[in-house]
Amino acid sequence: MGVAVIVVAAGSGTRLKADAPKAFVPVGARSMLERALEPIAQLPALEQAIVVVPADRLQQAERMLEAAGLAGRGRAVIGGAERQDSVLAGLAVLADAADTVLVHDAARPFTPVEVFERVIERVGRLTDGEGGAVPVVPVVDTLKQVDGEQIAATVDRSEVRAVQTPQGFPRAVIEAANRELTGMHTDDAGIVQRAGLAVVTVEGHPRAFKITTQDDLLRGMAMYAEDPA
Ligand code: CTP
Ligand code: MG
Repeated sequence: MGVAVIVVAAGSGTRLKADAPKAFVPVGARSMLERALEPIAQLPALEQAIVVVPADRLQQAERMLEAAGLAGRGRAVIGGAERQDSVLAGLAVLADAADTVLVHDAARPFTPVEVFERVIERVGRLTDGEGGAVPVVPVVDTLKQVDGEQIAATVDRSEVRAVQTPQGFPRAVIEAANRELTGMHTDDAGIVQRAGLAVVTVEGHPRAFKITTQDDLLRGMAMYAEDPA
């Protein structure tokens, strides 16, 4: 099985309010994107790593691929206005040998390699009618449905999960789902579901959390302090 991982890193990081695009913001000694590449470089089935970045960061991204030991298998391309446009830019340069595609947020720099492995393993066992596998974690807060200011209902927490990345798909499935696409979606599994296929879950990891705000960055810094490489 040839695996391609598309790392989307072309967002601006509006909510983080740093002075560089979010994926290029350091968490301790290294940027989020550099950290995100580390588990990817450890995957035995890796055929290709594609990083999708802002136009003025291409060369920097290429150097990061090289430093991660991915020079021969790495590719940096320019992203688009929305996350989905950046995913499309990555899909456009898939290597012929890639038959499984993982899409991963650079903004989840501490995602352990075991999560990638679980997703790849599960994609390898998809049956008819199943189109992808995504890592999930339980939701800890009590969830309420609201109608304006008023609480309308309590959501049964056992029935919901928070979804992380990498999200994995057979190449033909994610390519076809994106070709038929209308409207915007926040995750790739949603696109495949819209195309009428089931998406299955695997166990995610607390460390695969997404860095969105300064508070999240502080949490990332605490992890860096634990493991300062
Ligand atoms: N992303 C991307 N291209 C975009 C928008 C987002 O490649 N046009 C990537 C981000 O770089 C990030 C991931 O998608 O790794 C998840 O997006 P998000 O956390 O929303 O990052 P940003 O869009 O950069 O942040 P914000 O929404 O706060 O501006
Ligand atoms: Mg965003």
